[in-house]
Amino acid sequence: MSVTDNTGQSRATDAELIGRDDANDLAAILAITNTDRDEVIHHVKNNADCIYTWDYNKGGRPRLEKLYEKAKHGQWNGETDLPWETQVDPYKLATKAYEENGGLDQMLDLKGTGIESWGRKEWIEFEVQSQNWSLSQFMHGEQGALVCTAKIVETVPWIDAKYYAATQVMDEARHVEVFAKYLNTKLTGHYPINAHLRMLLDDIIEDSRWDLTYLGMQIMVEGLALAAFGFLYQTTEDPLLKKLLRYVMSDEARHVAFGVLSLKEVYQDLTAAELIERQEFAFEAAVRMRDRFLQQEVWERMGADVNKVIPVVFNNPDRQEFQHLLFTKIVPNCRKLGLLDAGDGWLRQKFTEIGVIQYENWVDTAEELDSFSIAAELEAN
Ligand SMILES: [Fe+2]
Ligand SMILES: [Fe+2]
Repeated sequence: MSVTDNTGQSRATDAELIGRDDANDLAAILAITNTDRDEVIHHVKNNADCIYTWDYNKGGRPRLEKLYEKAKHGQWNGETDLPWETQVDPYKLATKAYEENGGLDQMLDLKGTGIESWGRKEWIEFEVQSQNWSLSQFMHGEQGALVCTAKIVETVPWIDAKYYAATQVMDEARHVEVFAKYLNTKLTGHYPINAHLRMLLDDIIEDSRWDLTYLGMQIMVEGLALAAFGFLYQTTEDPLLKKLLRYVMSDEARHVAFGVLSLKEVYQDLTAAELIERQEFAFEAAVRMRDRFLQQEVWERMGADVNKVIPVVFNNPDRQEFQHLLFTKIVPNCRKLGLLDAGDGWLRQKFTEIGVIQYENWVDTAEELDSFSIAAELEAN
């Protein structure tokens, strides 16, 4: 049952968009899990038309052309440009983190959760598993980006965008490669793709409209990834991972900017009803990505009862602040695209409900792009 907004447009309900009436209904979030953990091949129906253009006028969209030139200069080699000889000891790093900050028991009241007896050994193991999980989800997300940008090459009608997206396909292949290599050679195990992340990637690929691939991947998934990589970049003590993330971020900032520059043009001409669909899609994506960060699979692997532990973790103010910080790129970029205030400002209200609207005036990625560049460093090498 859809509802009617203040401007007379029909709106989907939360239940229709995300499968529950309350975005914060933890029992409903935790009920979504991976049903096939041994799956090796995953099929998704790609419903989009492949589009040729016979207009080869390069530079017709100057900002995309400029981005394409930057991408050519920003290419790096995952095998030779990163210090893979670095010795990484995940237990040593986790022990240091534990000694400096303690486990989550320092921050939370875990009484009655079943893990109140966890000590040094368990919290260090949790930290190690947490890193395995995070890097695994980054790797899966990178494959999502690889597939989505290959799809954009096929479906976008502009030659400058096809050229640019082709460079991004190479970037994403490199990202999958370096995250997989880091997991395989430096960490202690993999995790399957998180169910919330997989549902979002499936939705993006299934949609027939080419701008939705951009919105889902370039703005939402990559916007969140850029913020999450930045957070890990600042906190990791492993010099190999630090450099890997910095190089990946220099590419990701370009990718998000590609989304902003392309969609800005498209969204100027959409009808009110079409903009509503984009707002709803952005909200659905935001909630799915937020839900994936609960690290449900890590708690399960550690033998904890997720229904007891996660509500305590979820409601912790520090944890909520971290979760909100993940939206520092998404919200300003949505504002730049006009999505926050389109119609009756529905997306602004939704972002207010999930506690992230305060980032709307932060710098958008098309403007801050050059601060991520590693071009000078690559040249010097
Ligand atoms: Fe990437
Ligand atoms: Fe990317």
